[in-house]
Amino acid sequence: MLRTHTCGELRINNVGTEVTICGWIQKSRDLGGMTFIDLRDRYGVTQLVFNMETNSELCESVRKMGREFVIAITGKVTERSNKNAKIATGDIEIVAEKLELLNSAKTPPFTIEDESDGGDDLRMKYRYLDIRRNPVKNSLLLRHRLALETRNYLAGQEFIEVETPVLIKSTPEGARDFVVPSRMNQGEFYALPQSPQTFKQLLMVAGMDRYYQIVKCFRDEDLRADRQPEFTQIDCEMSFITQEDILQTFEGLAVHLFKTVKGLDLPKFPRITYAEAMENYGNDKPDTRFDMKFFYPQFPKVGFSVIENADLVVSIVAKNCSEFTRKQIDELTEWVKRPQIGAGGLIYVRYNLDGTVKSSVDKFYSEEQLRETFGSANAEKGDLVLVLTGAKAKTLKAMSELRLEMGNRLGLRKKEEFKPLWVLDFPLFEFNDEDNRLYAMHHPFTSPHTEDIALLDTNPVAVRANAYDMVINGVEIGGGSIRIFNKELQAKMFNLLGFTPDEAQEQFGFLMNAFEYGAPPHGGLALGFDRLCAMFGGSDSIRDYIAFPKNNSGRDVMIDSPSPINPVQLKELGIAVSGK
Ligand code: AMO
Repeated sequence: MLRTHTCGELRINNVGTEVTICGWIQKSRDLGGMTFIDLRDRYGVTQLVFNMETNSELCESVRKMGREFVIAITGKVTERSNKNAKIATGDIEIVAEKLELLNSAKTPPFTIEDESDGGDDLRMKYRYLDIRRNPVKNSLLLRHRLALETRNYLAGQEFIEVETPVLIKSTPEGARDFVVPSRMNQGEFYALPQSPQTFKQLLMVAGMDRYYQIVKCFRDEDLRADRQPEFTQIDCEMSFITQEDILQTFEGLAVHLFKTVKGLDLPKFPRITYAEAMENYGNDKPDTRFDMKFFYPQFPKVGFSVIENADLVVSIVAKNCSEFTRKQIDELTEWVKRPQIGAGGLIYVRYNLDGTVKSSVDKFYSEEQLRETFGSANAEKGDLVLVLTGAKAKTLKAMSELRLEMGNRLGLRKKEEFKPLWVLDFPLFEFNDEDNRLYAMHHPFTSPHTEDIALLDTNPVAVRANAYDMVINGVEIGGGSIRIFNKELQAKMFNLLGFTPDEAQEQFGFLMNAFEYGAPPHGGLALGFDRLCAMFGGSDSIRDYIAFPKNNSGRDVMIDSPSPINPVQLKELGIAVSGK
């Protein structure tokens, strides 16, 4: 080894030892007689001292070295007179006796400090320099800890990690596939897996009983802070289990991770149905760090069309906000009217501290009528009631956004507070008005509730699925379901989803055929690993937790990908280039 210690290791009890450490020059301070260097590696920073009087040659050489030069230094560990309590090695320094330049470096395009002066794009282009910075490095260390503890927990529960292929056939998880042309089978394409869903089910047919994989998945969809085109799942499947077993096992995983990685004890996860989540929060992944549940007021009929002609009238009570200024209310009104939210306007009712009730609809309703309307809404003196009206789905969504925004404005969404829950009983199907057909809400292998099977023929949109999501602080961390393991039911499901028997056979014959060879009852789930990391790290963006992420246009700006490929390669693949 080139070094005896790392830059994060030496302490007061090492004083007097001769050591060699290697690293990057973080900072250099030339005080004339002395030069101080902060030397950095993954483990920390150690101060080096070069003394002009005792070793002028060494001092002259180090003064010529710039930031990020890579050096090896040998010297004696001594106690510092000026201790630095901010770093773990702050009690000591190394008096340099030998200096070896391992490599020089160009001046980096941004400062390698916790607070860098580099913008997002620049840091992405030089991601290998960005990773030298503590915040990014620590995110990757956190990711490693979480992966390790996930493996520890699952291995302890008899799960085994099995790798599934990356060059596969399309899996229907609802996004577009990334495809890879086949040279040996010209005109044909592999698809990259949106998830290993069908393979993990085949592993259950194969008798593996408990499978997991920390696995890359690929989805060609619009990107956001919590979505990357390639992302990682903790993907799991179990045989001979009920939904209850799955909820217990993966609640156990989350509890284990919070305990071992964060030192936090999570409470038992509350469970709510999809219907309850939509009614109370207008959202299937509610942030339950704060209450502010929806209330559906029944206004008296007075001829006020905004309310009386609306599909839906929904309100929330913002505690202790009656003294919001006119300006604050106007701002909120503008906020809900933005195209992303799309509300027509905002009605408010103030429960003033002096006991009066004043609203933006005083013209239409008396104080008494308002009190009666919001009688059971839990509005008290000092509260502000906010009301939205309009078409059902749109208004629920707008109110859900407004609730979250109020949570933000009132500081109710604390980063260090964690409120997990299970959302159960998702609908099996969603109906799409545009193409007038049913889509699987989770995926086509999800089993309906046994007691709802009869509804498949009569009212499929009312069928509840044996599907569940793990939600923490308003983020969908994971989801899964009990699977169909019977060939006929699976065929019926494909039929309802608009596949002809031939199409179903063509696309999923391998799975349906496998079901004829003794498929066990099985189910599973997948947790979004990047989202879990971001949640643990207290960030909204999963990008910070991925070593080499893509930007919002799906580009890797460091390696400049995607990029055109060589015409020779295209020819080999049998792909004609347009215009040539
Ligand atoms: P689902 O599609 O719900 O289920 O995905 C599981 C979890 O993966 C995460 N996730 C993403 N994370 C980052 N970027 C993305 N583009 C992205 N898409 C999804 C989410 C999500 O909850 N095969 C099923 C699981 C099963 O039924 O067992 C599946 O993939 O956190």
